[in-house]
Amino acid sequence: MTFQDQIKQGIPSELPSKNNYEKAINHAPKRMDILSKEEKELAIRNALRYFDKKNHPVLANEFAEELKEYGRIYMYRFRPDYKFYARPINEYPGKSVQAKAIMHMIQNNLDEAVAQHPHELITYGGNGAVFQNWAQYLLTMKYLSEMNDEQTLIMYSGHPMGLFPSNTNAPRVVVTNGMMIPNYSKQNDWEKYNALGVTQYGQMTAGSYMYIGPQGIVHGTTITVLNAGRKIAKNGESLAGKLFLTSGLGGMSGAQPKAGNIAGCITVCAEVNPKITEIRLSQGWIDEKTTDLNELAARVKKAKENKEVVSIAFLGNIVEVWEKFAEENVYVDLGSDQTSLHNPWAGGYYPAAISFEESNVMMVENPELFKEKVKESLRRQVAAINIHTAKGTYFFDYGNAFLLEASRAGADVMAKNGIDFRYSSYVQDIMGPMCFDYGFGPFRWVCTSANPVDLEKTDKIACEVLEEIRKNSPEEIQQQMTDNIQWIKGAQENKLVVGSQARILYADAEGRMKIAEAFNNAIKNGEISQPIVLGRDHHDVSGTDSPYRETSNIYDGSKFTADMAIQNVIGDSFRGATWVSIHNGGGVGWGEVINGGFGMVLDGSLEAEKRLKSMLFWDVNNGIARRNWARNEGADFAIKRAMEVEPNLKVTLPNLVDDSILKDLF
Ligand SMILES: NC(=O)c1ccc[n+]([C@@H]2O[C@H](COP(=O)([O-])OP(=O)(O)OC[C@H]3O[C@@H](n4cnc5c(N)ncnc54)[C@H](O)[C@@H]3O)[C@@H](O)[C@H]2O)c1
Repeated sequence: MTFQDQIKQGIPSELPSKNNYEKAINHAPKRMDILSKEEKELAIRNALRYFDKKNHPVLANEFAEELKEYGRIYMYRFRPDYKFYARPINEYPGKSVQAKAIMHMIQNNLDEAVAQHPHELITYGGNGAVFQNWAQYLLTMKYLSEMNDEQTLIMYSGHPMGLFPSNTNAPRVVVTNGMMIPNYSKQNDWEKYNALGVTQYGQMTAGSYMYIGPQGIVHGTTITVLNAGRKIAKNGESLAGKLFLTSGLGGMSGAQPKAGNIAGCITVCAEVNPKITEIRLSQGWIDEKTTDLNELAARVKKAKENKEVVSIAFLGNIVEVWEKFAEENVYVDLGSDQTSLHNPWAGGYYPAAISFEESNVMMVENPELFKEKVKESLRRQVAAINIHTAKGTYFFDYGNAFLLEASRAGADVMAKNGIDFRYSSYVQDIMGPMCFDYGFGPFRWVCTSANPVDLEKTDKIACEVLEEIRKNSPEEIQQQMTDNIQWIKGAQENKLVVGSQARILYADAEGRMKIAEAFNNAIKNGEISQPIVLGRDHHDVSGTDSPYRETSNIYDGSKFTADMAIQNVIGDSFRGATWVSIHNGGGVGWGEVINGGFGMVLDGSLEAEKRLKSMLFWDVNNGIARRNWARNEGADFAIKRAMEVEPNLKVTLPNLVDDSILKDLF
């Protein structure tokens, strides 16, 4: 059967032959056995809803086995045998170009070269799922191949509820992931309700079909390392010869060594998983590898002497590196951590005292003991980091809930006031005040022709647009413009594409709108042959409410609210987004963040031009208005500038209060 016929078929009525569990693939860890007997029966009943009754006897047994063996029902048998990758848009069956573009994006999120656990439909971050099981995937693709532009596909946490009549200006797909009644949003609630098959962890760009491989994160990480370097530079010197110590070579964390190389420092990155370390080495995302701590210390000392630009993987636990470098007096200039602590008990963080293999067994068989080991390890890690920071290391939390989980584990990580952490997060110090408050965030696009030549053309167009804008940019945003122009100029040479023909850069509302308009014109005049998908990471100015990450530099108490993210996704949906998504979960954990995103298909039409202008303006300025209301200086500058440009924008501005007024009030 052809690829097209398989897509149109959806869930086959005759059972396909059973797929082997392929050992060579990087699989999701076994999940916690959390359901009672009755709940397990409910999970099976839920899973069987997708299938013809005649197949229930076989599938009931098979799904019960999966639940026992893996803690989830993935329905492995139904994984199609075709290759998953972002095929040229014309290869997808269907009536709606917009729906075909969405299929292109979904296929990319499940590409084996891109996704972290492709057979469990997980794109990145350990549990960032596109779908909960293969039946949902098959049914969704069938709906997309059938739908027209007067219908909207409704996605409940991976489950396609169905096609509903709407209108041509409405989104083609509306995605919600992990939306819970707030009291049911604890970590174990995810384990339970995900095992029951009624919710999923969509992360950010996983469950919203907007992942573009590690490139997305290389850019953000490069900006972060560069700006962290600027923060510690005493005399404006570069990062040459300086050491950046961190951990994780996974989905996002794997970008750190590459970003370190682009920023020009020495990067040491610890990773416990041998398979992942090998992948990053073979991709050239890390230069060297060692398993020996003495060798590592000696190598770093030499690199410092020679001011080398080099990235070194340590295959082992990060805790050991912090301790070893403290013992050996290896000065760490910049330090961070990118283990997946948003998911601390199910494989996101491997404790120092036990091996990788032992951990994988213990987290399933003795989860309580495993929890204790994680906490112990975090206390050890923080103790070692504190030794370094006392000597001057600049340590920052990388939005992975490191400080949050370390504090919960009782590590010595609190500031003197007992409320704040003693270290800042990269958003508090860097991303927030330097980027988000000015409206700069991770704008991205994908060429659905899948043709690298088109991507090259878009790079040129984007660069020209940014250079033009820079000519009249105010001083406050010159550095951002310059960094991004340099990035886009080096993008081809840095060979950043893994998966779809995608590019990312940081731009503000003006940049995003002008680049998008130029792309739409290039499609209209035939310079670019197929539609372009616009989108962004949820990790942006307006899309995400997350008190320990995206909104950690909001200091008016509202960082624990989620109005901005909800307003954002509602606003995007009626201003022209092709699809919208809103998630509970994301980088810092279930219940810790609400984040949303969009996708927009540009097809060269006048309608697309209207949509991009209306939606992108809102999508950025909503967040700037909120940041301004929270009294953030950069946002005050940016929102006033936006109001000058757009007379229909009228934002409530805060009055600042003198400290003296508050002095003897209580
Ligand atoms: N890169 C960014 O810009 C960014 C931004 C915000 C948040 N984050 C957060 O960073 C974290 C990492 O994301 P990811 O996609 O790379 O996740 P991931 O799970 O793919 O990778 C994390 C890696 O850390 C390794 N690891 C775990 N414990 C370890 C230990 N003690 N020592 C050494 N290695 C260890 C794991 O084996 C895994 O490969 C997430 O919590 C994510 O939300 C990243």
